[in-house]
Amino acid sequence: MKGVILAGGLGSRLRPLTLVTNKHLLPVYDRPMIYYPIQCLLNAGISDILIVTGGEHAGDFLKLLKNGKDLGVRHLAYAYQEGEGGIADALKLAEDFADGEKICVVLGDNIVEGNIRRAAGDFFTQRSGAKILLKEVPDPQRFGVVRFEGEGEHKRVAEIIEKPSSPPSNCAVIGIYFYDADVFKVCQSLKPSGRGELEITDVNNYYLQRGDLTHEIIDGWWTDAGTFESLYRATDL
Ligand code: DAU
Repeated sequence: MKGVILAGGLGSRLRPLTLVTNKHLLPVYDRPMIYYPIQCLLNAGISDILIVTGGEHAGDFLKLLKNGKDLGVRHLAYAYQEGEGGIADALKLAEDFADGEKICVVLGDNIVEGNIRRAAGDFFTQRSGAKILLKEVPDPQRFGVVRFEGEGEHKRVAEIIEKPSSPPSNCAVIGIYFYDADVFKVCQSLKPSGRGELEITDVNNYYLQRGDLTHEIIDGWWTDAGTFESLYRATDL
């Protein structure tokens, strides 16, 4: 399985810091933010990695990471996203790199405490489809959120809602996703959302409706680092 890290976007919620650098190069405690998603993939045994980035400071990724060898990456590739068309728009650029293989997609501002190796192994043996990872959070309105149906052993994911004003649960969909090769056709078929972006939540809802979406709740803490509050929390954690 190959790994894709999405590190584009303008990081507008972190201005003025992101006027002079890319969000994913900002420090989280003792290292640049981008080191964490790379380490997350390496910990899961994935060392063939594509970084999708964009904006004015894209060249700085090359200065920092070079060919990835210092971090233990076997093969590091780069792609450049024009504009800020959304997570699923950035993902489109990974089609040639994936070359028909399954992929693990990590958002460049997501940091997890634990190891996703087990989830990666489970997805490797999943015949087709997608897998999402979930975590209970105190502020679900900031994320993609799961609506469950049924009780006990019949409880299942019925829908994923992006940034709901009245969240149907406090289970957030974290920014680590597993997809089969169909994901690129799905991304091509999407229409921009109200905020003008191609939404990864629409991709996940497509697989859900197809009856081909599994999920796991992750152990340990998880945070994003795309706002001042969450960047501060990430550093603290
Ligand atoms: O952190 C998890 C959440 O990430 C999910 O729960 C949401 O469902 C998902 O939509 C996303 O929400 P955000 O609104 O927080 O995503 P954000 O726009 O901050 O983008 C997250 C990362 O995705 C960002 O660090 C870089 C990458 N990205 C984003 C955009 C908009 C790109 O590579 N290109 C883009 O155009």
